[in-house]
Amino acid sequence: MTKPHHFRTIIEPFRIHSVEEIALTDLEQRQGALERAHYNLFGLHADEVTIDLLTDSGTGSMSSKQWAGMMVGDESYAGSRSFYRFKEAVEDLTGMSEVIPTHQGRAAERILFTEMLADGDVVPNNTHFDTTRANVEYQGAEALDIVIEEGRDPAATHPFKGNMDLGRLGQLLGDESSRVPVVMVTVTNNSGGGQPVSMSNLRAVSEMCAGRGVPFFLDACRFAENAWFIKMREPGYEEKTPFEIATEMFSLADGCTFSAKKDGLANIGGFLAMRDHSLAERCRNLLILTEGFPTYGGLAGYDLEAIAQGLHEVVDEDYLRYRIRATAYLAEKMNAAGIPTVQPTGGHAVYIDAKKLLSHIPQNRYPAQALAVEVYRVGGVRGVEIGSVMFGKIGDDGTEQPAPMELVRLAIPRRTYTQSHMDYVAEVVIETAGHARDIPGYRIVEQAPWLRHFTARFEPV
Ligand code: F0G
Repeated sequence: MTKPHHFRTIIEPFRIHSVEEIALTDLEQRQGALERAHYNLFGLHADEVTIDLLTDSGTGSMSSKQWAGMMVGDESYAGSRSFYRFKEAVEDLTGMSEVIPTHQGRAAERILFTEMLADGDVVPNNTHFDTTRANVEYQGAEALDIVIEEGRDPAATHPFKGNMDLGRLGQLLGDESSRVPVVMVTVTNNSGGGQPVSMSNLRAVSEMCAGRGVPFFLDACRFAENAWFIKMREPGYEEKTPFEIATEMFSLADGCTFSAKKDGLANIGGFLAMRDHSLAERCRNLLILTEGFPTYGGLAGYDLEAIAQGLHEVVDEDYLRYRIRATAYLAEKMNAAGIPTVQPTGGHAVYIDAKKLLSHIPQNRYPAQALAVEVYRVGGVRGVEIGSVMFGKIGDDGTEQPAPMELVRLAIPRRTYTQSHMDYVAEVVIETAGHARDIPGYRIVEQAPWLRHFTARFEPV
């Protein structure tokens, strides 16, 4: 039941129990830090950052109940009580009986893809996240993004811009299903603006996969935020609880990968869950090789407790209402000052359209990188580039094909910053946009063969 609200102000549904200082720096310090980090924001020391919106992953605040759970964590190597509590929470939510803990989401991806993929395969997804793409490609397979057309246009307003293009999926499963060992859908669609996927789209994907005998896996990192958008936007779901909606989403899939650092409300952890027992057994064998015994999978018992509790808290309506509203609040402040952001605002982050804001910088000079650097320089706010640095494709001849969008993502850690922090962020971005024309582009002077955005070195042009 949705509680009636007549107040306009949606408050943080928690009070602060423990505080952590944040660094206030000056322009000169930030300029020095940028030079030292070769204009890569991943190279900053966190205490050079005032408001850290690099990621919403593992950066949230835990509740007193999660901390209390950590105190009763069972650190047994095998058969830990905390594992069974974790397993029960995951099973209740997903309906999947094979639950494999991992140290974070990408470990689940690596294990699944090592088992399922071979050279020359194709994995369709609405949009692969960077680690998901890298793990698919590492197996010699192709990571194919087939989000609907609206999902590639920052200004398009569609209620479910994370939806999979069913026409393209149908074609792929018709012509080349033998090359498709698994279909994935990411909820919410992080790389495409944190946009939700509708239940009817998930159902259609599920039916198409079942018809072809191809397993369907969710990349479920932000399942609760997706469930909230379904409740708000999809007819027929208004009266359902986020938990009911989430269980329905999972019921459509054969398995999922999950990073508990997002909607697990934990600082570390993840899992791989599925229905197929024999695939799960093979995955467990790989798990033992690098992550650990199947009842801890690279996590401490206390982490398993924190995740189990987090999975209960994240589907709370008051929490989700505040969470999604807080993100929209930041976007609305910036939009009112003419800053273009991906519309409608997604769940965990505001994505600034740098291609539009810095239209004088060509894509091969990385406008989103340029904007992210400048927002840090101006006010110590750290976001992340989601554009051609992260997703540019380098061809065999060395030329680079730019990414479809040039975005700066300001990801909001869960239950961590207050409304005045968000007011400050909006002010910093608005001030930055005031001298947009003077912001230089960047060139890459050093880069790694995979996931280059983490370590690349840049120079202003
Ligand atoms: N899938 C999605 C959609 C993600 O957003 C992430 C991580 C992962 C998988 C991998 O999970 O980090 O636990 O290994 N996203 C973070 C981010 C890092 O900043 O968006 P992980």
